[in-house]
Amino acid sequence: MTGKEGYDVKKMMKKAAVCVLAAAMVTGLTGCGSLTDGKRIIRVSHAQSETHPEHLGLLAFKEYVEENLGDRYEVQIFPNEILGSAQKAIELTQTGAIDFVVAGTANLETFAGVYEIFSMPYLFDSEEVYKSVMQDTDYMEQVYESTDEAGFRVVTWYNAGTRNFYGKKPIRTPEDLKGLKIRVQQSPASVAMVNAFGAAAAPMGFGEVYTAIQQGVIDGAENNELALTNNKHGEVAKYYTYNKHQMVPDMLVANLKFLNSLSDEEYQVFKDAAVLSTEVEMDEWDKSIEEAKDIAVNQQGVEFLDVDVDAFKQVVLPLHEKMLKENPKIADLYNHIQAANEAARGGEQNGK
Ligand code: GCU
Repeated sequence: MTGKEGYDVKKMMKKAAVCVLAAAMVTGLTGCGSLTDGKRIIRVSHAQSETHPEHLGLLAFKEYVEENLGDRYEVQIFPNEILGSAQKAIELTQTGAIDFVVAGTANLETFAGVYEIFSMPYLFDSEEVYKSVMQDTDYMEQVYESTDEAGFRVVTWYNAGTRNFYGKKPIRTPEDLKGLKIRVQQSPASVAMVNAFGAAAAPMGFGEVYTAIQQGVIDGAENNELALTNNKHGEVAKYYTYNKHQMVPDMLVANLKFLNSLSDEEYQVFKDAAVLSTEVEMDEWDKSIEEAKDIAVNQQGVEFLDVDVDAFKQVVLPLHEKMLKENPKIADLYNHIQAANEAARGGEQNGK
């Protein structure tokens, strides 16, 4: 498929999706969902391409729901920000115009303060601690429910890897960031982090980043490795620095009224489908990172730089205290994560 054809198809899909949504709104079917052949249509929006681990996880979600409740529900997945950027899609989920959205916690911050915690730089000591905290369903369930007043509830999480800086020029030390314009997610905490490095934070939607780098509006961005390949940023930014500043999960967020409208049996099916989607996503994630690195190096000519992570960490560590002081909603989860970090350190010291 040529770039032009690809663009047209994307444009057509977007048009179709907007029509679906507009029709649902005009006919007043929003909120209680639309019915086709007596089936309730469940709309799920996300920002990634159809080869991304999240899309594959959501296909498993769809399959499980339809296998178990196919007489009542049909799940439709809208990828590539077709229904709008994360911020917009969260609003649609809040109002019930759609039922689910996958959004990074950075995008949830402005709706529910507790999620700011994940934008805190160097929060988790390792990927193992990160995964163990996120997979601790009993604990995370309380966090998920804490956003009920915002009209939505998280039903599961997806691994979105470790975020690192990348740009047109190599970033080898924290000093190299000074004066650079770096795109961040629309998250006050990420803005503060990038500014603390002496760079100028440029918050914008994910879909705008490629062109912004290409046109020199920004010098770089920060994300996991899939941004280079799935989102093609490696075509315009050739240096990727492993400074490992954040592990920001993506969340599958549901409209709360929709969840409350389900019978116990139906709720369980949706919950099980969500858990299954996470298992699939996590497996696919590990594979896709290896593939992405290979493509980035061998096809895009991206150079991966290993750096002194501690040098980066020291610059932004004071943000922990500042964020805790400014947002008491993150305190519990912060302490819980610190305990997990310490337990892992203890394990290592005891000869593990
Ligand atoms: C990742 C993440 C998304 C997020 C995006 C971004 O792709 O999975 O949820 O929106 O980064 O930086 O905007």
